[in-house]
Amino acid sequence: MKKIFIALLVVLVVIQFFQIDKTNPPVDLNKDFLKINNTPADVASVVKASCYDCHSNETKYPWYSSVQPAAWFLKGHIDEGREELNFSTYGDYQTKRKDHKLEEVIELIEKDEMPLASYTIIHKEASLSEENKTKLIEYFKKIKSELNYNE
Ligand code: HEC
Repeated sequence: MKKIFIALLVVLVVIQFFQIDKTNPPVDLNKDFLKINNTPADVASVVKASCYDCHSNETKYPWYSSVQPAAWFLKGHIDEGREELNFSTYGDYQTKRKDHKLEEVIELIEKDEMPLASYTIIHKEASLSEENKTKLIEYFKKIKSELNYNE
């Protein structure tokens, strides 16, 4: 029993040497979702607080991003989140893709699937109140309805 404990401890210490890469890709605000759409400040601040850590190139890394294995878990979410939907590169998306992503955004907020529960447990400021949920859903629906396929 004691040997297992020591071995675990050694593993925990050793993995601390494998830090994640915390450099964010460069941000071009001309492609940023909030910037392009000139999102009202009250909506923008909610989207930033609830989604931008995983769905943009403006991730703010919390203290546990220096502690393994938590940081690997976090990094996985950031990489996957950006790949699925990156608000920082939204301007590069084709209209069809924008349409599809906005549809998903509305659906996932409605179903309380985003922001991820594992995240809001720690980041209370990111969880959406009913009022903010409604605000975001209405806003994303509006943006979706204004998409222009002839651009
Ligand atoms: C802690 C990180 C994290 C936060 C915060 C977060 N997401 Fe996600 N999101 C993910 C991950 C990881 C995936 C991909 C896996 C999945 O679908 O569960 C994802 C997937 C999505 C998808 C699916 C895209 C597709 O085409 O299937 C949408 C849409 C989305 N998130 C929207 C949001 C919105 C809107 C917010 C804020 C209200 C948000 N997310 C907050 C991590 C996050």
